[in-house]
Amino acid sequence: MTGRKVMNFNTEWLYLPSDDPGARLAGFDDSGFEPVGIPHANTVLGAHKGDDFQKYIEQYRFVSWYRRHFTLPGDWAGKRVTVGFEGVATVADVYVNGQFAGRHKGAYTGFSFDITDYVSFGSANVIAVRVDSTRHADIPPEGGEVDYCLFGGIVRNVTLTVTEPAYIGDVFLTAPVLSAESGRVRAAVSVRNTADAKKSLSVETVIYDKKGAEVTRAVSGAALVAEGGSFTFDTPEIAGPRLWSVDDPYLYTAAVNLIENGATVDAVETKIGLRWFEFTDTGFYLNGKMLKLRGVNRHEQWPWQGRAVPDKLQARDADMVKDTGFNAVRCSHYPQSPAFLSRCDEIGLIVFEEAPGWQYVGDGGWREIYKDNIEEMIIRDRNHPSIVTWGVRVNESWDDRELYTSTAALAKALDPTRPTHGVRRNENYDSTEMIEDIFCANYVYPEEPRFSPFISSEHSWEHWTDGCNLPWATDAQAMENTKSFADAVNYYYGSDRCLGGFAWSMFDYNNEVNYTRTGHVFYSGMYDIFRLDKPVAHFYRAQKEWTEGVELYIASCWTPDSPSEVEVYGNCDEVELLVNGRSVGKIKPNLYMNVPHPAFRFENVSFEAGTLTAVGYVNGREAARAERRTPGPAARLSVVPDYGALTADGADMTSVTVVLSDENGTRLPYADERVSIAVDGPADFIGETPIALEGGRAAFMIRSRFRRAGTVTCTVSAEGVEPGKCEIEIIEYDGGME
Ligand code: GAL
Repeated sequence: MTGRKVMNFNTEWLYLPSDDPGARLAGFDDSGFEPVGIPHANTVLGAHKGDDFQKYIEQYRFVSWYRRHFTLPGDWAGKRVTVGFEGVATVADVYVNGQFAGRHKGAYTGFSFDITDYVSFGSANVIAVRVDSTRHADIPPEGGEVDYCLFGGIVRNVTLTVTEPAYIGDVFLTAPVLSAESGRVRAAVSVRNTADAKKSLSVETVIYDKKGAEVTRAVSGAALVAEGGSFTFDTPEIAGPRLWSVDDPYLYTAAVNLIENGATVDAVETKIGLRWFEFTDTGFYLNGKMLKLRGVNRHEQWPWQGRAVPDKLQARDADMVKDTGFNAVRCSHYPQSPAFLSRCDEIGLIVFEEAPGWQYVGDGGWREIYKDNIEEMIIRDRNHPSIVTWGVRVNESWDDRELYTSTAALAKALDPTRPTHGVRRNENYDSTEMIEDIFCANYVYPEEPRFSPFISSEHSWEHWTDGCNLPWATDAQAMENTKSFADAVNYYYGSDRCLGGFAWSMFDYNNEVNYTRTGHVFYSGMYDIFRLDKPVAHFYRAQKEWTEGVELYIASCWTPDSPSEVEVYGNCDEVELLVNGRSVGKIKPNLYMNVPHPAFRFENVSFEAGTLTAVGYVNGREAARAERRTPGPAARLSVVPDYGALTADGADMTSVTVVLSDENGTRLPYADERVSIAVDGPADFIGETPIALEGGRAAFMIRSRFRRAGTVTCTVSAEGVEPGKCEIEIIEYDGGME
């Protein structure tokens, strides 16, 4: 083997859920450890809310150990070996064959250690990681209370990379010259030479289009490199570059090759998007075109599992954000998983990323780690076309000129191509000073913002405690909840001084502080904690253009308690509403008139059990129909997995949704019965049984086991109704390290 080999190092770990200092030693007896796959949560929480959940907040705060045995082929001797972790919550101490390889602090940024000096080739090695998930007041975001949970474990991927003695360190690709007509790509590449002698090295950049055809190439001059060096050079002009945008997220591939004596000794591939953007006082412009930022805040967490889910679920979240009609996402309040960000590049979502922090700023040591985390975030993520700004102020912290002047300067030094932003709390709005390039404030809607460019980084808080945002809210409550979001969207679309907004939040999430007194679940989501939709999600869905698909949603469960005002969300020109087949009117949109697709509100619709139908018209023609039926008595349960097949790698996972419906398949929107879940087959059940339905729905998760293929059957039952059943195939895993 020559060149670089990046190996998936997620499988075949051994886990001890307690602290044993001896576990760092090579010869330690780990036969009693539990086999696990990465990403891995140090504790699977036994409840997703309430008093039961409360105790788990303390229970994931402990020290655990992870060990993995591995062998590297004897003929790899002389190569460099690096282990890379995408995220460990919160402090990781890494030992290889008993020797200390390094420590990392911070739950949200990755790190890697060169472990060449500690490994042997051709014989057994063991890597041991002490994972300290206890409270750390000296590491952001901790120190004060935090409105989300940090969780614990090796929560993101691990890789093992083998290279030649001379290898590529970091690659930073920019487009210093770019227009619709032509552009150049600039590569800034750092290289390392670990050999004793200097080497004559050069670097080559080759740009390929999506089909793999070469677009252009450039080679740097050669340099004699002792330990480290850097090369910065441009490609020739690319004529008519296909630009990256939210509608056409076109990605080129940049191959960066390291050349020694005419031979390629290392190669790194990076996806790049060619785009330019600008934040002005009156708009965000992407490739010269104004784009109102219709965004949402996303936390990276799931019920029971915390943050430890495979890449495919991270990517699915990005797909959900896009599919819900948002064009932007704010990574609240920390650097999110690489898989999430890569998916944002692929599907065209604008990303506001920010360093870890929530309201609290600590002293010297804390500040140093905050800056380290900023540096790690920017170096990790500066090639993502989706990211347009760095958040370098702790979310909703008070002003701190010294700290925030230095974090803004740090960001500029690491990435001169992007602006910075800082998010203010509303209590600080009137007194805060402007340090960053973009002024962001939460829960304020000024006509003339104090500073520009201005963005409403969180909006719509009115219903955090009155139940309107619950998954089982009544129609009237859900309409109020939607109104609080729609009013804010209406505000920023009507303003040429607010560039857009980010709704709080995409998903319901578990929090530590519980200040809403809602059982440690913050019910602010477009979707609940299981990622099941609430009516407000459909208001946003309707904002997409009908050319992407016609949307039509009746915001009523059509029960005797439903109000006589019926709202319909859709991207049609006109909507007709029918009660049991009789028209009650055909109207044009009449609510939230600034937004791209205002809502349709029908007044005085008298309830009559049966069917409510909406017919949507586009350009005078019927384009879509939606229906709501009055729910009858509970009849059956259905069970549907998001993914019908999983890979037996020990970490692949799917959520499975349970729905209680009547004879006709209409969900019972207020059902809160307890249902029992039975899982049979080679997979782990993650969830609660029995579990109470919330708005007629609930969910659980299924995780594969390492190299255990087969069929898993899930059966869900409750008294007096027909049980539901589904099957999930677990497919052989043929990957892993040799
Ligand atoms: C904001 C904060 C968010 C979240 C939200 C709901 O003030 O920035 O992180 O906590 O309130 O409580």
